[in-house]
Amino acid sequence: MSLAVRKVRSEDAAAIVDILNPIISDGNLSVLDTPLSVEDEQEYIERFPALGVFLVAEDREGTIVGFQSVEPFATYTHAFDHVGTIGTFVGLPYRRKGVGTVLAKATFASARAVGFEKLFTYILATNDASLVFHQRLGFTVVGTARRQARLGGRYVDEVLIERFLDDM
Ligand SMILES: CC(C)(COP(=O)(O)OP(=O)(O)OC[C@H]1O[C@@H](n2cnc3c(N)ncnc32)[C@H](O)[C@@H]1OP(=O)(O)O)[C@@H](O)C(=O)NCCC(=O)NCCS
Repeated sequence: MSLAVRKVRSEDAAAIVDILNPIISDGNLSVLDTPLSVEDEQEYIERFPALGVFLVAEDREGTIVGFQSVEPFATYTHAFDHVGTIGTFVGLPYRRKGVGTVLAKATFASARAVGFEKLFTYILATNDASLVFHQRLGFTVVGTARRQARLGGRYVDEVLIERFLDDM
């Protein structure tokens, strides 16, 4: 698949919501549990931290097929300034075509360039595809937080994963 990766713009909000809301509705892939409006997403993009990374992947026709972001792990202390938390979302028709991998290559380099030294995130234990995807990108499993999320009235474990950016 021929892809171009670029920084997000606020006018991408509608395309992002079109990818994200079906993932939220699925209920097994993300801890996000409330569908987003285009206005919510626009505001999120506009307020995105300057020291974060938010990239979109476009196909040859300029359609946004996926996006990926890295945000500071925490802002209440400087102890985690070197740690970013990553999120990746690819539209259903475009999965398993290398979109997430192409985004990650650009995101890892950008994250390192803005000062992150490691990426850390949580994956719902019901999201096998995401775990394999992240392991393929060099993430390793730190452990499992049991009954960490409650979605639709049931508890779900979360798998904690990390990847150092030393090789960037
Ligand atoms: C997880 C996700 C981001 C992967 O993106 P993608 O563009 O489909 O991934 P890629 O095509 O780059 O796949 C790279 C590798 O990851 C693994 N992988 C990806 N999807 C997989 C799946 N459904 N089952 C098993 N392995 C999978 C494979 O090893 C794949 O390599 P291969 O196709 O050569 O075998 C995508 O499935 C997605 O957006 N899912 C819904 C949202 C989500 O779960 N986000 C993560 C939240 S933690």
